[in-house]
Amino acid sequence: MTIKLMVSDPDRLFYKEVESEFSSILILDLINGPANPELLSKYIKKEDPELLLLGPGWDENDLKKSVRELNANNPELTIIAAVTGGDELSKKLIETGAKEVIKVPIESAKLLQTIQKCLKTDGKPVKQEKKREGGKIITVFSTKGGVGKTVVAINVAVGISKKESFEVVILDLDLQFGDVGVMLKQSPKYTIYDLVSSGEDVDKTRVKSILTDYSSNLKTLLAPLQPELADLVLPKTVTPTLTALRQLADYIVIDTPPLFNDNILSVLDQSDHVILVSTMDLPSVKNIKLCLQTMKLLGYPQDKVKLILNRVEKGIGLSVEEIEDSLKMKISQTIPNDKTVLLSVNKGVPVIEEAPKSPSGMSLSKLSDILLKKKEKELLSA
Ligand SMILES: Nc1ncnc2c1ncn2[C@@H]1O[C@H](COP(=O)(O)OP(=O)(O)OP(=O)(O)O)[C@@H](O)[C@H]1O
Ligand SMILES: [Mg+2]
Repeated sequence: MTIKLMVSDPDRLFYKEVESEFSSILILDLINGPANPELLSKYIKKEDPELLLLGPGWDENDLKKSVRELNANNPELTIIAAVTGGDELSKKLIETGAKEVIKVPIESAKLLQTIQKCLKTDGKPVKQEKKREGGKIITVFSTKGGVGKTVVAINVAVGISKKESFEVVILDLDLQFGDVGVMLKQSPKYTIYDLVSSGEDVDKTRVKSILTDYSSNLKTLLAPLQPELADLVLPKTVTPTLTALRQLADYIVIDTPPLFNDNILSVLDQSDHVILVSTMDLPSVKNIKLCLQTMKLLGYPQDKVKLILNRVEKGIGLSVEEIEDSLKMKISQTIPNDKTVLLSVNKGVPVIEEAPKSPSGMSLSKLSDILLKKKEKELLSA
């Protein structure tokens, strides 16, 4: 058994000191973590250490804030702070979630004792074996057809896959008329229908075997090629598919049909973010209003919903502010009406790749950023 100890201090020498003291203790797997609060939080998510040692180089206020946030978001992480400050600071850090506060210069025996104290008496780490949380599900939805769901879904997926080296999968749940394949110029060997027809268990290995590569870290799971097969893909297949995809990818972006059906209800249940897409016309806004009411009725938390206004332009008798007033909700991102989108759709290349500097390309890139930030924020409050 090894225990991962992540060390974080703005001064890299601190890590070196800890390393020279403790590298001989085989049970400790030392990790040099970043000292930037946001990056640290991400790195903790990635490395999943049992222990975190925050060094004395941290600014006091940052330290207090980070201890509080890291503790809230990683209840199983044991935080140790090494400080030069007085008792007041130590008290505050313990109150906000540090398990131990030790003074510098650190005596190695003292730190070892502290580490032992942080472990259960039976030698097991305080942290329990954690169920893999898995990737985040982003569902792009609207009860209105033709508003740009598929355009948003593929561009957000490509955007996220390009910004970070996250593994991303697009799942096309517009089972009857799915357009993801066309918009990405893919001719898939397999579709989600293969999970139904084979009769095999839907697990990670099976799902992985039917994904279609788009790029090195973006894959797709496309809709059946014949519309009549759509009705055969039911929640009993879709639900385990999502579980498997969560294990395979960091982000799963789901494109949907313009209606609530059993698959969509189950997907909305499991989504971490729901992007509701509207255009700037009254029928679309009315639809989104109903959609929001339905989601409220179904008990979906409002905070997982993000409103996106697509094909935005001026002089059409309805402004962004009026739409926000009518929906009593802020628009998270607007995407301009832009011919480049149509060009890219017809070329089979997402606009974010084809014309990243175009107005629509930049808006879609911003939307990807918003979703990535949301994930970081969630890491802090999960
Ligand atoms: N911002 C935009 N500017 C210009 N054209 C756009 C924009 N967004 C989408 N379009 C165009 O609108 C059409 C419909 O988009 P899309 O297929 O993404 O909508 P959808 O909501 O998925 O439709 P459906 O409900 O039929 O699946 C596309 O051909 C696309 O070119
Ligand atoms: Mg579509």
